[in-house]
Amino acid sequence: MQAIVFTSNTGHTQEYAQMLGVELGLPCYDLKQAKSNLPSGAEIVYLGWIMAGNVQGLKKALRRYDVKAVCAVGMSGNSDQLKEMYDKYRFLEDTPLFYLQGGLEYQKLKGVYKFMIGTIKNVMGKKLEAKEEKSQEEQEMLELIVNGKSTVSKEKLSEVLAYLKENVI
Ligand SMILES: Cc1cc2nc3c(=O)[nH]c(=O)nc-3n(C[C@H](O)[C@H](O)[C@H](O)COP(=O)(O)O)c2cc1C
Repeated sequence: MQAIVFTSNTGHTQEYAQMLGVELGLPCYDLKQAKSNLPSGAEIVYLGWIMAGNVQGLKKALRRYDVKAVCAVGMSGNSDQLKEMYDKYRFLEDTPLFYLQGGLEYQKLKGVYKFMIGTIKNVMGKKLEAKEEKSQEEQEMLELIVNGKSTVSKEKLSEVLAYLKENVI
């Protein structure tokens, strides 16, 4: 394993990537910088933030590198999106895909992303607000959508770290 490579918009994915780098003693690069630091075909772990169900930068990372594991970072409190992702990214069949909750920080969003999340906030927020009996997860999601926050924590990396230490490093 040569490095951790990531694509991040508001910093959550970058934080997770840097934590993994420290834990595993590996350098950590933004996908854009990685080109000048890593040879093509290098063995990496890739982390990308999720936008509308797509892991940003993943296709490029898979074309360039030997991706040993993928972490998708989103705002959802559960990993339900992973199944759809396996269906979408069929080439991931032999590559483990992990989900990490990042968060939602409105003040860090700009341009088209800010506009898009405004629409998502309206649709999802209204739907959740209208629901009479909300599960704890739905209540937490509503709070995240309304107020925004980072939920990044080292504890959330325990599963992926255990996998990487056991199988990849
Ligand atoms: C336009 C837009 C679309 C998003 N779509 C999804 C989504 O489909 N699923 C999800 O879980 N999170 C979605 N998110 C939330 C981000 O994935 C989340 O904020 C993540 O922590 C961002 O990581 P970053 O800080 O590294 O950019 C979306 C965010 C934006 C701005």
